[in-house]
Amino acid sequence: MCTQGFEYLHETVGPVLLESAKIQARVQELGQQITADYRGKILHLIAILKGASIFHADLIRSIGLDVTIDFIALESYGVSTESSGEVRILKDLDESLEGRDVLLVEDILDSGLTLNYLIQNLQTRGPNSLRVVTLLNKPSRRKVEVHADYVGFEIPDRFVVGYGLDFGQRYRNLPDICILKISE
Ligand code: IMP
Ligand code: MG
Repeated sequence: MCTQGFEYLHETVGPVLLESAKIQARVQELGQQITADYRGKILHLIAILKGASIFHADLIRSIGLDVTIDFIALESYGVSTESSGEVRILKDLDESLEGRDVLLVEDILDSGLTLNYLIQNLQTRGPNSLRVVTLLNKPSRRKVEVHADYVGFEIPDRFVVGYGLDFGQRYRNLPDICILKISE
């Protein structure tokens, strides 16, 4: 059964893969690790919209450092569950990355096409450092090699929704991460 309180979604949303409490605990751990790794620095955390918005909001509050934030919106998926391989910037960053310590915050690393494109693009903007944190990793689906410096959870090859992740723009508000029924 999917998340409590969201039973009306039972026809499309299947079982819980990661419960809210488990996600929250792991986000706190990631925050502590990142805090230790960047001690004394100002960290610039970029959320890749829209999927990473909820993870980003929780993660920045678990980091005990001076942080700044920005947002970038990319398009790599339509309503399908497969990456088109084409990545387009829908909304670019507001601020320059010149000389900054940048941490890219992603919801899920799947084929790697999105992050591969974005890392190459952002490297040309002169950051002092550029690392990646992804909440979820589906290593079995990789098409291009991408290194994630921090990973929340490795998950099997299933399409998941909730905690920011969508299917056709729906289900981002589920507190748990659930498996989509057609992908069970
Ligand atoms: P990639 O380019 O194939 O690595 O895909 C990355 C993007 O695809 C993520 O930022 C998500 O927006 C989306 N995506 C990949 N797998 C899933 C999934 O299981 N659920 C929801 N979105 C996904
Ligand atoms: Mg995304």
